[in-house]
Amino acid sequence: MTSEPTSLTGTDPFPGPPPGCPAHGRGPGALHRLYGPDAEELGDLYESLREEHGSVAPALLHDDVPMWVVLGHAENLHLVRSSSVFTRDSRIWTPLADGTVKPDHPLMPHIAWQPICSHAEGDEHQRLRAAVTAAMETIEHRSLRRHIGSYTQELVNRFCERGRADLVSQFAEHLPMAVMCEILGMTEEYNDRMVQAARDALKGTETAIQSHTYVMEALSRLTARRRAQPEDDFTSHLVTHPAGLSDDEVREHLRLVLFAAYEATANLLANALRMVLTEPGFRAQLSGGQMTVPEAIEQSLWDEPPFSTVLAYYAKQDTELGGQRIRKGDGLLFAPAPGNLDPRIRPDLSASMQGNRSHLAFGGGPHECPGQDIGRAIADVGVDALLMRLPDVQLDCPEDELSWRSSIASRHLVALPVRFEPKPQQDVGMPPRPMAVSAPRSGWQVGTLRTDPAPATTPPPAAPRPAPPAPAPVPAAPEPVRKRGVWQRLLRWWRGE
Ligand code: HEM
Repeated sequence: MTSEPTSLTGTDPFPGPPPGCPAHGRGPGALHRLYGPDAEELGDLYESLREEHGSVAPALLHDDVPMWVVLGHAENLHLVRSSSVFTRDSRIWTPLADGTVKPDHPLMPHIAWQPICSHAEGDEHQRLRAAVTAAMETIEHRSLRRHIGSYTQELVNRFCERGRADLVSQFAEHLPMAVMCEILGMTEEYNDRMVQAARDALKGTETAIQSHTYVMEALSRLTARRRAQPEDDFTSHLVTHPAGLSDDEVREHLRLVLFAAYEATANLLANALRMVLTEPGFRAQLSGGQMTVPEAIEQSLWDEPPFSTVLAYYAKQDTELGGQRIRKGDGLLFAPAPGNLDPRIRPDLSASMQGNRSHLAFGGGPHECPGQDIGRAIADVGVDALLMRLPDVQLDCPEDELSWRSSIASRHLVALPVRFEPKPQQDVGMPPRPMAVSAPRSGWQVGTLRTDPAPATTPPPAAPRPAPPAPAPVPAAPEPVRKRGVWQRLLRWWRGE
């Protein structure tokens, strides 16, 4: 359904709804607000907007600033791919240019223009992005996967003997930070304080500025160290790239990469684990071998993209999108969450999207996420290794007690409490060993794990994470009773495949 063309800016007035009209409670122009009590369930709100306006809908941001929300899959793709018509440079946004959006607007951190590749376009975007992608290309994927595995082992060691954990605060929020500190070349900065600071800075609490400063100081120290003496890590390659990034540019791109990677990947891990734990179809397919962990991760990227929306794109000229008249200077919300649920491409939301990677979770066009392989690797290896260590892991609360913290940009699971039979620690330099489950609480097993007792092994004492992890022998050939699937997965994992 397509509504009459509307305009967000220009001469069109915002008449209030007549008394008694159901639109009362909405904002000016009877438009829906994407914030406040109206927006407690943004997913439902997007569906009402789709119903009312079609694939591009007018809505209101904080302070009732108008913004188009792009709800259609094809329209979102058109938005990100049409760089001659739409830009990420907010300086042309009419409400910002005319002073309607004040410097203290709550979404300013997302909106304010910064000298980073996300906001640049044309030659400047190419210069900055070339340095970022070239530095990413130097990351060796096999050793990256080994690091992810070692960090997963280390994190699971912290709680495996207790039989209980919160997989959001004790796992999903830690693993991406540990891996990103390794990639950037500042392993010494990874600790609980750094995880807390990043979480706090993104939440926008009263201590957000202080936390942001804490992270930025670490990135400044790193930039100065690598400028003085480059090594073989992401930061050094950024510093020495022929694009000639200044110290400020290096630091700002380290911030972009660290926060984008941390937030998105923490969300992806939490979402994927939640799906595995609560959706019986997922469990059955994983345990039956009809679905691999990477496929489960991809399904999660369709159903719950880690960034629900990206603020924002801006029209460089008058144009039309999804039947709406877009004026030069209008803002448009790129919206993977409703775009991935577009009924034109997913008439049946319960149907599996296996083998189809055309979701919008990583954006598209010139700004498409350059770190997607790293995000996928963290999620694939992390989830696989965790489930290998804790095959009997189960949700430790009724499913309807799980809660989310939502903002326009993303939706975070607050906690994912789980329980399992306590397990001994394992050597973090070794691939995860599936532990026997004496009395599984359910028939579910990840992959093709055996349920009969494993041969008695004395678990090695927990060792500190080696950096880099020493090559370890491939585990001895399995006994005939073991099914082949799990060992093949283990060998593949250990070889970094
Ligand atoms: C599952 C994890 C991730 C998701 C879902 C994700 C998603 C996204 C999205 C939606 C964008 C914006 C695209 C646009 O503006 O059209 C983006 C941009 C970006 N992401 Fe990711 N990301 C993830 C992980 C990462 C990682 C691990 C890194 C770095 C190692 C990274 C680095 C970046 C950078 C540098 C940009 C800006 C690119 C540009 O504007 O040219 N992301 N990401």
